[in-house]
Amino acid sequence: DKPTYILGIETSCDETSAAVVEDGRKILSNIIASQADIHKRFGGVVPEVASRRHVENITLTIEEALQAAGKTFDDLAGIAVTYGPGLVGALLVGVAAAKAISFARGIPLIGVHHIAGHIYANRLVEEMEFPLVALVVSGGHTELVLMKEHGDFAILGETRDDAAGEAYDKVARALHLPYPGGPEIDRLAKEGTASVPLPRAWLEADSYDFSFSGLKSAVLNTLHNAEQKGTTINPADMAASFQDSVCEVLVEKTLRAAKQYQVRQVLLAGGVAANRELRERLVQRCQSEGIKLVIPPLSLCTDNAAMIAAAGYIGYLKEDFADLDLNGVPGLPL
Ligand code: KG4
Ligand code: ZN
Repeated sequence: DKPTYILGIETSCDETSAAVVEDGRKILSNIIASQADIHKRFGGVVPEVASRRHVENITLTIEEALQAAGKTFDDLAGIAVTYGPGLVGALLVGVAAAKAISFARGIPLIGVHHIAGHIYANRLVEEMEFPLVALVVSGGHTELVLMKEHGDFAILGETRDDAAGEAYDKVARALHLPYPGGPEIDRLAKEGTASVPLPRAWLEADSYDFSFSGLKSAVLNTLHNAEQKGTTINPADMAASFQDSVCEVLVEKTLRAAKQYQVRQVLLAGGVAANRELRERLVQRCQSEGIKLVIPPLSLCTDNAAMIAAAGYIGYLKEDFADLDLNGVPGLPL
């Protein structure tokens, strides 16, 4: 059988990325033009700036991806592009590029959900075994997803307010740490102890939903009250306490779902999957419960186009092709 090459394109947030993946699992190239340094100055992603940078970078990024893979447009079986969720102006750049190539070269177009991409980053590392649960934790998302087969996503729970990464970034800001705050808190937490009492949002007993805004407010209030009283709280202890609360809830709910649905695998996905505490706790709990855990390398946890091509390959096999009226959908449901 001839191998199938899919070109992946990702522009939903602040990374312009293009990749070529063989048969849904083998990365031939994965080019990422990050804008992180630009947005750092503003303390967060500025949508207008992101769109403009995508426009500047997209053509070269795609050319680079093909070149690094040693392929041309003629080799491609499909073009997979993120069409939501994300920043609408950012999404549109990738979608427009994908449609233009699809039309000009007669290559089938596949629309990919960004979260499906994050989950399929795992398949670039290890074959999926169903049923599985995936914990998706990023700057924009916190979802617990049950998969019974390829391309089939059932959301068991999601955040009712802030995403996990968003809470990390906001608490980091309160502790005067630079953006993005997740890695900063991760680092600082190792120097402190989880000694500050903070709430855990378990919600209803049977719920797989998450909530992090109450925790975030508790951190801000505790810091504020200490300041009012003229006392100080060790930032490292606060970071450790916050991280303890977030990780405890994420891990417990994931393990509860894994047991309820008797899964064969637990997958971790999204930028917060880089968190050392979260990884360590998941490794430990899955080991003691005898559940197989897959965690992609850091480079595949954050936004990239290889994961989009990997997810797009499933759409290709199912001949789930998009028309040229494909549009960016900021609030696309999974
Ligand atoms: O998946 P991602 O790169 O972009 C989105 O799709 O959102 O995730 C970025 C998020 C940011 O909120 C960042 O602070 C967080 O992931 N993050 C971390 C760590 N590394 C990145 N959060 C906690 N611990 C980390 N080590
Ligand atoms: Zn993402």
